[in-house]
Amino acid sequence: MEPLIKTSNLCLAFGGVIAADNINFELHAGERLAVIGQNGAGKTTFINICTGYLAPSQGKVYFDGKDVTAMTPRKIVRLGLGRSFQLPQLFSEHSVRECIQIAAARRNKELSWFRSLESTVDAREVDETLALVGLSSEANELSFELPEGKRKLLDVAMALALRPKLLIMDEPTSGVASEDKHSLMETVMHALDERKVTSWFVEHDVDIVARYATRVAAWIAGKVAADGTPAEVLNNPQIKSEVLGT
Ligand SMILES: Nc1ncnc2c1ncn2[C@@H]1O[C@H](COP(=O)(O)OP(=O)(O)O)[C@@H](O)[C@H]1O
Ligand SMILES: [Mg+2]
Repeated sequence: MEPLIKTSNLCLAFGGVIAADNINFELHAGERLAVIGQNGAGKTTFINICTGYLAPSQGKVYFDGKDVTAMTPRKIVRLGLGRSFQLPQLFSEHSVRECIQIAAARRNKELSWFRSLESTVDAREVDETLALVGLSSEANELSFELPEGKRKLLDVAMALALRPKLLIMDEPTSGVASEDKHSLMETVMHALDERKVTSWFVEHDVDIVARYATRVAAWIAGKVAADGTPAEVLNNPQIKSEVLGT
């Protein structure tokens, strides 16, 4: 089967810092990939290149068999590559329900000044997405009033409204109290399973990585230093000393 993501010889440097050092990487449908690595290792840069936010100085990115290297983020999203951000990108002056409506309308390219949101997006679809991430009772709250964990869920729900094949989540549990991280991931992973979405998430908490990933890739200095099952990578001596600090 063709990989969902394939990169060949991806390189990018910022001044003297090599943030992506000749990365050859593949991700297949059905995988749950956790990416680990110290701050500055290049995890976000790699995501930014794959999603069209940064252009590599060298190399190619293929999504679902198509060369997306020179495409805009908007176009790549429409092909089915969704993304959520370390700091959720919400429409803060809008309600939770409206945020999902806007995202769904964007998928349909139906956002227009001349039509109301209610008339462009199927209300049942919005209700289903709200229920899927457990935000039904917050539907009418303004998104900026939500606690961080629920803002993260709304960000994921907005990405799901675009019907992605793959969702890349950059530190979905950052900024969330440690006692709430597991229930957040439980909800997110259940939602992704329901919608049959392949996932790739950046995560620092080893317990969460071990629990939710089927594959782990460890980044060191712009390179994939280890890639395998959670047990293999989390017990790798180099990864333990250089990434996990144990
Ligand atoms: N837009 C940018 N301009 C200059 N340097 C950058 C930029 N983005 C990232 N970097 C540098 O690239 C390296 C990798 O950063 P990043 O991909 O954000 O790492 P991570 O997500 O693993 O913490 C770091 O040294 C960072 O300072
Ligand atoms: Mg980062």
